[in-house]
Amino acid sequence: MKTQRTIGFVLLASAGLFSLSLTIGAWAADLNKLVDACSQCHERDGASRDPNMPIIGGYSEPYIISSLTAYKNKIRSCPEIEYLHGDKKVKRTDMCRIAKPLSEEDIRKLAQYYAGKKFRRANQDFDPELAKKGQQIHERDCEKCHSQAGSVASDDSGILAGQWTPYLKQQFFAFYAEKRLLDKKMKPKFNKLDKTEMEALLNYYASFK
Ligand code: HEC
Ligand code: HEC
Repeated sequence: MKTQRTIGFVLLASAGLFSLSLTIGAWAADLNKLVDACSQCHERDGASRDPNMPIIGGYSEPYIISSLTAYKNKIRSCPEIEYLHGDKKVKRTDMCRIAKPLSEEDIRKLAQYYAGKKFRRANQDFDPELAKKGQQIHERDCEKCHSQAGSVASDDSGILAGQWTPYLKQQFFAFYAEKRLLDKKMKPKFNKLDKTEMEALLNYYASFK
């Protein structure tokens, strides 16, 4: 009797373990599928090589969650873009359409995944004179929330040092045109910048390799 019960218990326990490992296996497969879809533009580990696609590997988990949620709810602008890789029938799409079908759980898992990667800085040209000017503006107006030239992911304010210039430039315009919600405290500092000051800032961020 005792042995039978023990065997029964062992069977039950291993069945439990088996279904648990099946669940974890299915999760991992789901995550891989999602990541494959993201890699079509953001590349492996989120280290995008196209200047219009932001590098997302190494961004903080809360920042990625909040941006994907903003796209999902369409409170952040979604410029149309083309898939870089893959044989998708749909050639053009945007981040709002991409984020729409993601569940909260998908978003959390994706954020965790990319937050665990290293931010690989883009290698791009810059003007050293403008970069010097940009450093002063950054230290005066931006360093408070984007510390160490905007390289600290845990500030939850994105990453500026080494991010692609064309992408950052587009975000500057989106902030300006109020197509992307600004942190309320960032707004007054940002809105008083003129075009040359913005160019200088972009050259400063591009100087980090
Ligand atoms: C068709 C190309 C494409 C695909 C596929 C794609 N993205 Fe994007 N993603 C972009 C572009 C372009 C932007 C910048 C959009 C903008 O201007 O706001 C972006 C922006 C982002 C941002 C915000 C970055 C920042 O610095 O604020 C995150 C996070 C992100 N994508 C995550 C993902 C995830 C996760 C997936 C997969 C589920 C994915 N993307 C799939 C092209 C793509
Ligand atoms: C009071 C804090 C604060 C200040 C000051 C500030 N920012 Fe920000 N910034 C933020 C926050 C918070 C976010 C994330 C907002 C979001 O998720 O949309 C952000 C996001 C950004 C982004 C988008 C990053 C990405 O990956 O898409 C850029 C670019 C940016 N800031 C540039 C600047 C510049 C340039 C200055 C100085 C002129 C500045 N910020 C000053 C808080 C600040």
